[in-house]
Amino acid sequence: MLTRPDVAIVGAGPVGLAIAWRCASRGLRVTVHDPAPGSGASHVAAGMLSPVAEAYFGEHALTGLLAESATRWPRFAADLADAAGADVGYRADGTLVVGLTADDLAEARRLWSYQQGLGLPITPLRPSELRDREPALAPRVRGGAVAPGDHQVDPRRLVPALRAAAERAGAVLRPDRVGPLSEVDAGVTVVAAGCGAAALTGLPVRPVKGQVLRLRAPGRGAPDFRHVIRGYADGESIYLVPRDGGEVVVGATVEERADTEVTAGGVLRLLRAAVDLVPELAEYDLVEAMAGLRPGTPDNAPIIGPLPGRPGVLVATGHHRHGIVLTPVTADLVTELIVTGEPDPLLAPFTPDRFGKEPTWN
Ligand code: GLY
Repeated sequence: MLTRPDVAIVGAGPVGLAIAWRCASRGLRVTVHDPAPGSGASHVAAGMLSPVAEAYFGEHALTGLLAESATRWPRFAADLADAAGADVGYRADGTLVVGLTADDLAEARRLWSYQQGLGLPITPLRPSELRDREPALAPRVRGGAVAPGDHQVDPRRLVPALRAAAERAGAVLRPDRVGPLSEVDAGVTVVAAGCGAAALTGLPVRPVKGQVLRLRAPGRGAPDFRHVIRGYADGESIYLVPRDGGEVVVGATVEERADTEVTAGGVLRLLRAAVDLVPELAEYDLVEAMAGLRPGTPDNAPIIGPLPGRPGVLVATGHHRHGIVLTPVTADLVTELIVTGEPDPLLAPFTPDRFGKEPTWN
């Protein structure tokens, strides 16, 4: 097949594959270039869809994009299940934000008060209400809140589903590593290479290391809790993500480092906080410890749009802590830009030209 593709995508993570699926579904000839599809940050990611609990101080535009993408997720998951013939583990049980000590609760409350001030759906709970919802929480957990619209999906089911959907729509995956972008011959080139985008584009994308554990309930039963739990525990901030098959993902460290070593200290901090919040987790099997590299940016927001000075090159990278939740909106915005040539107004705060002469990090 394929002589010159309409669209060549560099990077077969969720963002690159979703763009491939959407573009191929619109009749474009698409290639995706990656020697190891799905082996980057998404392989480690927990898959939280958290527009509310991850609305942080000073990130107003990003918060709006997270909310927009989260509203697209149910339809995106349903379309993908149809297109790929595979379920991606979308679960809408909601998220509890909890504090172990009085200090932890004060920290959690400070953030959820800010989120409430933005009009986001997060509701404080009395300790008895918290325990009614999740009896597995430790008795010493001081309090918390519920964000019912913060959901989850399983990234390790998402990536194969996106790949199947893209290929069924006609996209072609090629196992080549793209060096300079000049090697790619296509109508439009989309750089969706996570941290690798820095070397390809010169944009200020830097690795932010996250260590993540996977536990498994004994006997492969369901975990003892059903909500995603975001906990503050003796100054540590962690999350616990329960899956149907008995897995619990425990994350994550946030380290300004570019290696993917798992450290004893990182594992200790995550496990101590996890067991302090849900004591039963001490009985679970520890089945995996990995580290991934989030593609961070100077303002923590993604970089989506035309690369200045490089006609025909678009970027979709820098999704930092939010790659999974932002996959649907990123794919939609990039596909519309390619198909119509018109940027959606939603893109304005996130285009690459917002960076002046920032240094690049590799
Ligand atoms: N969004 C979760 C993380 O980056 O660890």
